[in-house]
Amino acid sequence: MKRTVFIFLLSLIMTQNTFSQKKIWDESETGKEERLEWWTDARFGMFIHWGLYAQAARHEWVKSTEHLTNEEYDKYFEIFNPDLFNPYEWAKKAKAAGMKYAVITSKHHEGFCMFDSEYTDYKVTNTPYGKDIIKEWVDAFRAEGLRIGFYYSLLDWHHPDYTIDVSHPQTPEKQTKEEYAKLNKNRDMAVYREYLKNQVREILSNYGKIDILWLDYSFPMEFGKDRDDWGSVELLKMVRELQPGIIVNDRLDLKEYEGGWDFTGAEQYKVQKWPEIDGKKVPWETCQTLADSWGYYRDEYTWKDNRQLLGLLIESVSKGGNVLLNVGPTARGYIDYRANSALDKVGEWMKYNSRSIYGCTEAPEDFDAPANTVLTYNPETKRLYIHLIDYPTRHLVLHGYKDKLKYVQFLHDASEISILEPSGHFQPKTEQNDITLLLPVVKPNVEIPVIEVFLK
Ligand code: GLC
Repeated sequence: MKRTVFIFLLSLIMTQNTFSQKKIWDESETGKEERLEWWTDARFGMFIHWGLYAQAARHEWVKSTEHLTNEEYDKYFEIFNPDLFNPYEWAKKAKAAGMKYAVITSKHHEGFCMFDSEYTDYKVTNTPYGKDIIKEWVDAFRAEGLRIGFYYSLLDWHHPDYTIDVSHPQTPEKQTKEEYAKLNKNRDMAVYREYLKNQVREILSNYGKIDILWLDYSFPMEFGKDRDDWGSVELLKMVRELQPGIIVNDRLDLKEYEGGWDFTGAEQYKVQKWPEIDGKKVPWETCQTLADSWGYYRDEYTWKDNRQLLGLLIESVSKGGNVLLNVGPTARGYIDYRANSALDKVGEWMKYNSRSIYGCTEAPEDFDAPANTVLTYNPETKRLYIHLIDYPTRHLVLHGYKDKLKYVQFLHDASEISILEPSGHFQPKTEQNDITLLLPVVKPNVEIPVIEVFLK
């Protein structure tokens, strides 16, 4: 008996030990909810991928996919000069599109720094442009009242100590240990790890309050990189010390660490339902491009249309998530006509319908979504939003809503929607607690009309 008690206590101590080893940040659940509140309310942000690759204009991975050497890639560094860059214009566009926050690439995988760093010469202030783009960008976006985020690439295809791995431009043709060892003989990840930490410290110290940090990415596999390569635990501890309110994504390979991430991501896909970890719904964001590539791609033809983009936003909110929609500005510094037109159209819809997005989330389970509709819900105002993805012909039956609703209107023009009194003829058969809305035959002049239901 005594022995069992002893073993039990021992195992308790051991689990607590491993548990505390796996803790990065001490915070209660409500503490975290409060820290993330502005972000979960905001729902919609702008992602900006901008770097030297904008000049190649054929994907931000061009250095890797075309196996370019530093020397071959240098031509972009030598001429980088975005003479039409006006971050105030960008910020206005983001705001007009209904976005509440923005995340910009301070360094992408190519290793080029868009900020003035003490630790490298490979930075924007050494190009013909000569100014710290990140500083200019932060000032402008803050002035428009947008929240600020930095993307920072953990990968670095320029740093001489960053070891060559599967995604590196100089990855060997034969993927063997010997080949990698040969190539990496003079490279030392410990030196790069220090560099990475120093640079993250810089971007989190030199630009005031930073709301989001987007670190990209880990690939724990053979000839890949994981949390030990980045020194993720130490790195994140430093991040939290420098910016206690910051919100961090989940690509540091610290999924099983308490406080190792704030939200999870869905890159370029729609989730089927609200993502859960250990049976609990977690904060999440889908990042998505307008066309295929993140950086500016001149000859791109795979642009998502307005309906697809709105559908993405509405569906994400209906499952409790955020959307970070990407633009890849040109190397002259402006957002091109295709991206502009996409943002304008989203903005047109948001101008009249954003009430169904901001502060909204998944609807309570007892609300049934009629066919071809998507629901969102604002728990503060107790309003339910029915998005009419496919506009119905006159009638919309709301099953089981009768006791719950006070008033119904279109969101875009606050015009009342009548409730049909059952009379038996020429109207859908309903059950006792159903309600039938009488809609105008002609679809309102809105891409996806929204019905706003005031609940009791
Ligand atoms: C991937 C890509 C990268 C892009 C990012 C955005 O990690 O490597 O090019 O920046 O996704 O989520």
